[in-house]
Amino acid sequence: MPFQVALNFEDGITRFIECRPEETVAEAAYKARINIPLDCRDGACGTCKSRCESGSYDGGDYIDEALSEDEARHGYCLPCQMTPHSDLVLRIPSTSAAAKTGAAAHTAQLAAIRRHSATTVEFTLDVDDRDGLDFLPGQYVNVAVPGTAKSRSYSFSSGPHRRQVSFLVRIVEGGAMSGYLSERARVGDRIEFTGPMGSFYLRELTRPALLLAGGTGLAPLLSMLDRLARQPPAHPVHLLYGVTSDQDLVHLDTLDDHAEAIPGFTFDHCVADPSSNARTKGFVTNLMDAGTLHHGGADVYLCGPPAMVEAVRGHIATLGVTPAGFHYEKFTPATTVVHKASPSAEAA
Ligand code: FES
Repeated sequence: MPFQVALNFEDGITRFIECRPEETVAEAAYKARINIPLDCRDGACGTCKSRCESGSYDGGDYIDEALSEDEARHGYCLPCQMTPHSDLVLRIPSTSAAAKTGAAAHTAQLAAIRRHSATTVEFTLDVDDRDGLDFLPGQYVNVAVPGTAKSRSYSFSSGPHRRQVSFLVRIVEGGAMSGYLSERARVGDRIEFTGPMGSFYLRELTRPALLLAGGTGLAPLLSMLDRLARQPPAHPVHLLYGVTSDQDLVHLDTLDDHAEAIPGFTFDHCVADPSSNARTKGFVTNLMDAGTLHHGGADVYLCGPPAMVEAVRGHIATLGVTPAGFHYEKFTPATTVVHKASPSAEAA
């Protein structure tokens, strides 16, 4: 049975290919007409060197100049030599354009609109070719706003295994998608989108994880939790969810369900508004100390507006802790644009 290999390019675009256990990832990519960087194809030059972020494989034969022992230990691999033992996620050192591929286009039908509050709406799609859409939990797509020439980026809030896909939208005055969802959207509308994209996705959990969400930045973390509900983690996972006002709080019932279903999963939330009914008022940083970060032994996944992302990074620095892994995504819910900046992962 072939394995699924996610090729995540430098521009965030992700293509999924099938790779049989006896073929190399490079051969499978070639068959899928995706030109990942290759030169010698013999494990000698290192041109194809990529990073495997998830899954197991046989690294194949190569010389030390192409891939050192230390690099191999840190997850680097040679797609021209490696054969999969499981599904894989690879970071490919080129753009999708250089690999002569791009984001896949999809069509769908609007299946449901759920108005959580005046500030937050969720929409759900039936994708026409659902089997042709794969994504990693945490990734996003660019949605063409019906009746306009605009598109907006939204992270999946549903897990990759679900037949229907869902997204959370913060309603902003004058926003293209906000206007559509608030005034014109009808179940049955046709929706087009491209993707998946983004490098903010759940890696294999090899240590505790701290998930941090600001506002509708909860969406990609919900998708990750949906995955963890199916593949329970071997390490504790804690979520801190911060919003501006009580009406921004959504999916607390879903988080309660996950806390029951996912071993080792806990969460807390806070509201910045001093008049809130929430038990904790203020910002997520108020709920974070060195222990929350397992004194540097945790992977951090952070999604929120730029100010929150910067505040969290500053707070972590103040605590004198360097997280084992730090992945973040910023989004800007501006008055007319909902834009998700290129996600990135780096050491804090
Ligand atoms: Fe030369 Fe893979 S293409 S090592």
